[in-house]
Amino acid sequence: MLTFNDITVQFGGLTAVNSLSFEVPKGQIYSIIGPNGAGKTTVFNCISRFYTPSKGSILFNGEDLIKYKPHQIINKGIARSFQNVELFTKMTVMENLLTGLHPLLKKNIFPIALNLPSVKRMEKDARDQAYEVMDLLNITDLANEKVSNLSFGFQKMVDIGRAMIVNPQLILLDEPVAGMNPIETEKISELILRLKNELGYTVLLIEHDMSLVMKVSDAVTVMNFGKKISEGTPAEVQNDPVVIEAYLGEVETHVAAK
Ligand SMILES: Nc1ncnc2c1ncn2[C@@H]1O[C@H](COP(=O)(O)OP(=O)(O)O)[C@@H](O)[C@H]1O
Ligand SMILES: [Mg+2]
Repeated sequence: MLTFNDITVQFGGLTAVNSLSFEVPKGQIYSIIGPNGAGKTTVFNCISRFYTPSKGSILFNGEDLIKYKPHQIINKGIARSFQNVELFTKMTVMENLLTGLHPLLKKNIFPIALNLPSVKRMEKDARDQAYEVMDLLNITDLANEKVSNLSFGFQKMVDIGRAMIVNPQLILLDEPVAGMNPIETEKISELILRLKNELGYTVLLIEHDMSLVMKVSDAVTVMNFGKKISEGTPAEVQNDPVVIEAYLGEVETHVAAK
């Protein structure tokens, strides 16, 4: 469904992603792991078209995404949640979910300006979609709660919900359990599995939490210094000496920094 062909991304002299190729099959949970600074988020920023690679192509259902602008990517069926929760904290859960639809509503600006009856209908449809998402997340009772009153785990749910509301084919999740306690992590891992099993989404997951990756992934690509150093099933990459070494390197760097 999504194919990276020999993608390279450079920032000045730094090569953040180096000749990276991988393929995400439809209907799978595909994870990208690797130490900090490996280039994982840069991969997402290429798909979202925030960054333009200096080399290579990104095919989504056979079509090269490079020719599209960031706001067009959502219309292609690709939605994203960010590494840091970026919600409107003074707004309610319902209002935040509705903001997920804005990129799609833009093209309907004429009926909105003219206040046609079709607008009322659109508003109702949008609210119905938001309730559907809240239902899936089991947070319907929080519809009118301000996001600032929610725990971090629930804020992340809303963040993912905002990506879900457009009913994407592919959902990109960047470290969805970072900073979460084990109970919150468990909830999100169940949600990720449901995205695949109940909603038929394809999920591309960046994650640091190994137990989550091992639990939910069908396949894993491991990156280090912008390159793919290993690829396979969770068990395969977990036992790959090259991967173990890359993570040991990270631990040593942390220790040295202290
Ligand atoms: N916009 C940018 N400008 C300059 N350097 C960047 C930019 N985005 C990322 N980088 C650099 O690219 C490398 C990979 O970053 P990133 O993709 O965020 O890694 P990861 O998500 O794996 O931790 C890092 O060295 C980072 O500092
Ligand atoms: Mg990152």
